Amino acid sequence: MSQSAPQKSLTATDIRDRKGKTPLVCLTAYTTPVAQLADAECDLVLVGDSVGMVLHGLPSTLSVTMEMMILHGQAVARGVNRALMVVDMPFASYEESPAQALRNAARLMAETGCGAVKLEGGQHMAETIRFLVDRGIPVMAHIGLTPQSVNALGGYRVQGKGADADRILKDAKAVTDAGAFSVVLEKLPAALADRITAEIPIPTVGIGASAGCDGQILVIDDMLGLFDAFKPAFVKRYAHLAKDAGTAISTYAQEVRSRAFPAAEHVFSDKTAEKDPTE
Ligand code: KIV
Repeated sequence: MSQSAPQKSLTATDIRDRKGKTPLVCLTAYTTPVAQLADAECDLVLVGDSVGMVLHGLPSTLSVTMEMMILHGQAVARGVNRALMVVDMPFASYEESPAQALRNAARLMAETGCGAVKLEGGQHMAETIRFLVDRGIPVMAHIGLTPQSVNALGGYRVQGKGADADRILKDAKAVTDAGAFSVVLEKLPAALADRITAEIPIPTVGIGASAGCDGQILVIDDMLGLFDAFKPAFVKRYAHLAKDAGTAISTYAQEVRSRAFPAAEHVFSDKTAEKDPTE
């Protein structure tokens, strides 16, 4: 009997081993159907706390909760087979102490089945990263523009310009030494992202950083043109789904008003022979 072996999911170790090799393809996802689409092409699918802004209409990621991350993590887990699924630790779920971080990271892993967590912060989070890694929790770090610190950073600004480059380089080295398997570099000058990529032994995943990073990540609703409240300069739109959806909804509204919808094929009669697949 020929049966294909179940597909093996990528692990944090597989991702770490991709340093300097084919670029890692990463996207966010928040729902099962989108996770299935992303899983077909991606090495890593992130349940980002960007979910608060793109799906829940929140003004920032600051009020995203553990419950939201768990609910969306469980939905994404149903759509991911091959990629490494990483779940973001929301604001205030890990900063208080390594013990608080462990409690919440363990809950995210147990309740979603994710293979790793991501948290924001460099040198000041190194002790926490080490604490989690030593207890079996793979951690992806996130440095540069860290959106959960938007108020302290004075906005969504490019980080690491001029003399500030040294701080970001130290952040990259600190999270590497603490045992992170990979690090997101957000909104940095390209030359700094290239320097970090050259100097640390774990893969860098860029967003608004450099094509020279070991991988790239985008928020899926941004790249599909589904979220069009605003567009960061680093986003490339590969589709315009909000526009297409607007056109579809407007056509539907016209057809309902003119009674063109539903047509004969969308209604039933006593003689309807075809069985509705949903019955
Ligand atoms: O929350 C998120 O989507 C992220 C990515 C932008 C890296 O952290």
